[in-house]
Amino acid sequence: MCGIVAYIGSREASPIVLKGLKRLEYRGYDSAGIALLNQHLTIYKKKGKVADLEETLAGRNLHAQVAMGHTRWATHGEPSDRNAHPHRSADGKLAMIHNGIIENYTQLKSELVHKGYTFTSDTDTEVLLNFIEDIRQNNGCGLEEALRIALKRVTGAYVLILMDEDQPDMLIAARKGSPLVIGIGKDEHGKTEHFLASDASPIVEYTREVIYVNDHELVIIKAGELVLKNLGNETLTPFVQRLDLELAAIEKGGYEHFMLKEIFEQPDTLFDCLRGRLDSQKGTLTMAGVENHIGQLKNASRIVIVACGTSWHAGLIAEYIIEELCRIPVEVEYASEFRYRNPVINKGDVIIAISQSGETADTIVAIGKAKEQGAFIFGVINAVGSSISRISHAGAYTHAGPEIGVASTKAFTAQLAILTVIALKIAHEKGSISNTRYRGLLDELHKIPQKARETLLLNDSIRDLAIKYKDAKDALYLGRGYNFPVALEGALKLKEISYIHAEGYPAAEMKHGPIALVDDTLPVIFVATKDSCYHKIVSNIQEIKARKGLVIAVISEGDQTIANMSDDCIVVPETDELLAPILNTIPLQLLAYHIGIAKGCDVDKPRNLAKSVTVE
Ligand code: AGP
Repeated sequence: MCGIVAYIGSREASPIVLKGLKRLEYRGYDSAGIALLNQHLTIYKKKGKVADLEETLAGRNLHAQVAMGHTRWATHGEPSDRNAHPHRSADGKLAMIHNGIIENYTQLKSELVHKGYTFTSDTDTEVLLNFIEDIRQNNGCGLEEALRIALKRVTGAYVLILMDEDQPDMLIAARKGSPLVIGIGKDEHGKTEHFLASDASPIVEYTREVIYVNDHELVIIKAGELVLKNLGNETLTPFVQRLDLELAAIEKGGYEHFMLKEIFEQPDTLFDCLRGRLDSQKGTLTMAGVENHIGQLKNASRIVIVACGTSWHAGLIAEYIIEELCRIPVEVEYASEFRYRNPVINKGDVIIAISQSGETADTIVAIGKAKEQGAFIFGVINAVGSSISRISHAGAYTHAGPEIGVASTKAFTAQLAILTVIALKIAHEKGSISNTRYRGLLDELHKIPQKARETLLLNDSIRDLAIKYKDAKDALYLGRGYNFPVALEGALKLKEISYIHAEGYPAAEMKHGPIALVDDTLPVIFVATKDSCYHKIVSNIQEIKARKGLVIAVISEGDQTIANMSDDCIVVPETDELLAPILNTIPLQLLAYHIGIAKGCDVDKPRNLAKSVTVE
């Protein structure tokens, strides 16, 4: 997600801001920019890294004691110089940096266009900035009041910092839903200085006195004085606390590793990927990429899903979901195989390309070939503006934020949520499911972020389980129906994080050979939550127990039957079997993580692996 840094005090501001942006690089970004205020407001920004921005600054006069900088993770508008932050208002007087999503920006933009405003970018940020300017001009009020009025109309999440060329000794900031930390320091002359940032990593080397700004609060820093207010213009008493985290820990949000941080982000990322799309009360799903091409999608003669690795596992689950709900034939292909064989592609075919990075070479080439043969390409991508998102005819972003850990976790569950939304929209349009089933799934999908939060409470017990099984040489992961691809994903996580050989299999396939592997040293992880295959998987567990296999079972709350048969159990919240993979995967992610830690593995950067396989 985006990173913001600002400084106002007596020191040279630009070195502090640029260094601060580098401290935030771990958050993932695609462009960077800086605004300086010294009589005049100057903005430099470009697509690329902070180092690329610094190159453009070489030789320029960067003298200023007020500056703010931004690293952008694109959500609206692809990565480009013009979409980078800071943005400047139409009258040139204001500059703003923003982290978050303004959900009603299209409404605000149309009002402004109607008033004659033009825009230099595709971002929601520029819309909000001109909305603030418009209010200030029309109401004849100050910037602080204009911001307060504007924020009362805004829906979505934001942390923003504003500069006003006419008030060079002031910064105004506000937050709702995205983090903002303010450091209060003293420079070498004992003068108060303020540091603002998305987290404490750009601040901690200057001061440990910080304020964590809360939702719906504004901060006005002027002439060395900080005032904290709410949107009702009431002055609040800031709670200043002492920061006790070290830099490395701050970058990981206090977690020991990015992988664990990202596993624990899943309730929020599941909420974010559904935000603005699912309204379970109204019973509506909004997804422009589907709506604008609904004819092509609902009339598809078949859907071919193309992906690699974990994304391919998401494709397998999507196959079950789409065929059940939409009654459209689905095939799931490894991109690396699809690109080299001579697949039959018909004009009415729809290709769904699933990719976290949007840069996986095999997937890019595979969909390029399909596109040449007339297929319609729909991308389910996490990285906005990535290659696959640009090749696709349409798509939906998963909005899981940057995934730093090499093992994909939060992106996977976000893919499942988005693919479910796509299937539900097509099925609803086709009339291939009842309204009762449709509304029931919307209601259950709405509960998933909270149920994911409950599932994460298993962390400590799964860490204990990991200690028990960390010395296993092999492992089997078994599931049926929707839980079969979950078994594959659990096995992949264990392999790539702990280097233990693991295989995922349909549980019923054991008797066709793999059961020969079973003995009293082999852990067999069953993904066996209550679903239409439940009674069958109970038999499969009995087959393993009869051969002295060690059974670890992921089960639904209250399932005493399997609990009595198993050596260890992981109890997850109940949900519709179609949504169960989202929850059932989480304990398997945690199991792989904790076994990897117990074995001393580098869980964020496993050996031999890259985060994005951009070569074949
Ligand atoms: C996931 O844990 C793996 N690191 C890997 O399989 C990954 O899913 C695969 O390389 C596909 O990447 P993509 O989703 O960025 O296309």
